[in-house]
Amino acid sequence: MENIQTNRLILKEIKIEDAEQIYKLFSDKELLKYTDNDIHKTIKDTKELIGIYQKEQKTGKSFRWAIWLKKTNNIIGILSIYHINRKHKFATIGSFLDRNYQKNGFMPEARLATINYAFNKLKLNRLEAQVFVKNMYSIKMLEKLGFKKEGRLRQNFMINNKLEDSFMYSILIVPNK
Ligand SMILES: CC(C)(COP(=O)(O)OP(=O)(O)OC[C@H]1O[C@@H](n2cnc3c(N)ncnc32)[C@H](O)[C@@H]1OP(=O)(O)O)[C@@H](O)C(=O)NCCC(=O)NCCS
Repeated sequence: MENIQTNRLILKEIKIEDAEQIYKLFSDKELLKYTDNDIHKTIKDTKELIGIYQKEQKTGKSFRWAIWLKKTNNIIGILSIYHINRKHKFATIGSFLDRNYQKNGFMPEARLATINYAFNKLKLNRLEAQVFVKNMYSIKMLEKLGFKKEGRLRQNFMINNKLEDSFMYSILIVPNK
């Protein structure tokens, strides 16, 4: 898998030697509260997940990048293109960023590069993002990137043991309206 460069970031394949940095992200309950990621209790959970990611990547089921900040040379987030449907040319995009680095436009910068990769290299036509209705920062980011809200999915997102609504957003390679 090739690296993707932006002004301030490098997106690289997640490697087993990154486990410690990746574990810090996956064990942050507050960071992941509005996502569907399981919280990691030990670094063993992280190593297992990296193994799953590597297998999925080999079979073309998903692409997962570690987001490296050039300035400090450390991992500040994860970005995934997954549930890839080759026949109908769509996939899901999801991401999260270390809380210390949010509000700097890093994730839109990373997403823009991977959206281009998905459309130009993977030849996908549509990327979907499903977001909890109260996840304001994520909604702002999606709208800034040109994702359009398609509808409200009722009670399909479990948050704190409560089923909540989410919005379905998408971006198309050539929008039809
Ligand atoms: C959603 C997320 C990826 C956005 O990444 P980011 O690099 O912080 O994105 P931006 O810097 O463009 O921020 C998006 C908007 O939210 C605002 N924002 C982000 N973090 C904020 C914070 N901690 N406090 C106040 N505002 C914040 C930004 O100011 C920006 O608003 P603006 O466009 O009006 O300026 C990041 O907040 C995150 O990882 N959240 C937790 C995980 C998550 O919810 N992932 C998405 C699941 S669908």
